[in-house]
Amino acid sequence: MLPCENFLLNPARNVALIGPMGSGKSSIGKRLASRFGLRFVDADREIERRTGTSIAIIFDCEGEVGFREREQCVLADLLSGDDTLIATGGGAVLQPEIRQLLHARSFVVHLHAGVEAQLARLARDRTRPLLADSARREEVLRELAAARGPLYDEIADLRFDTDALPAADAAAQLGHRLDTQWQRGDEGNAAQQVHA
Ligand code: S3P
Repeated sequence: MLPCENFLLNPARNVALIGPMGSGKSSIGKRLASRFGLRFVDADREIERRTGTSIAIIFDCEGEVGFREREQCVLADLLSGDDTLIATGGGAVLQPEIRQLLHARSFVVHLHAGVEAQLARLARDRTRPLLADSARREEVLRELAAARGPLYDEIADLRFDTDALPAADAAAQLGHRLDTQWQRGDEGNAAQQVHA
């Protein structure tokens, strides 16, 4: 992890949520964005909006490589603006350029979830191509966690465990931590006071 969590480092106008599938990036992100007066964008939904098709079809037609190119493009666009809370896809951190951009342009929060919690939350989900083989879900999630854990840690300004928490509670608790640990620019502080 780059900075110590107890100090105000990496001042930034954006907040980015990183972490594995089923860690709560979208459900927690929407609530946090509203609390802090930020625009909420889910990067996967933005890719779907721009392409007019689903993530699953992009994987089918262009493979994971094609999807990662689109993901990089959308995140670079989103991170060029200000005052946005971005929920990234679980694999966004795979690309060094994205890791660098996330660190440079946002306060990065790693939402951590253990494999058991992921399996429970994603039990009915059939939209994620990497989990299409239902017999291997647990194995895949464990492999991804091992490969990506160090990448999440590398750029996280703050790590927050969502395992035992419903989204509303997680957002409330994380909001309190951001109050003390996320340093915004001047205009951002004004907005923060209005929405506190
Ligand atoms: C992926 C996670 C998904 C989505 C795509 C690939 C991954 O996003 O980007 O299916 O590589 O972990 P969520 O983390 O929002 O499910």
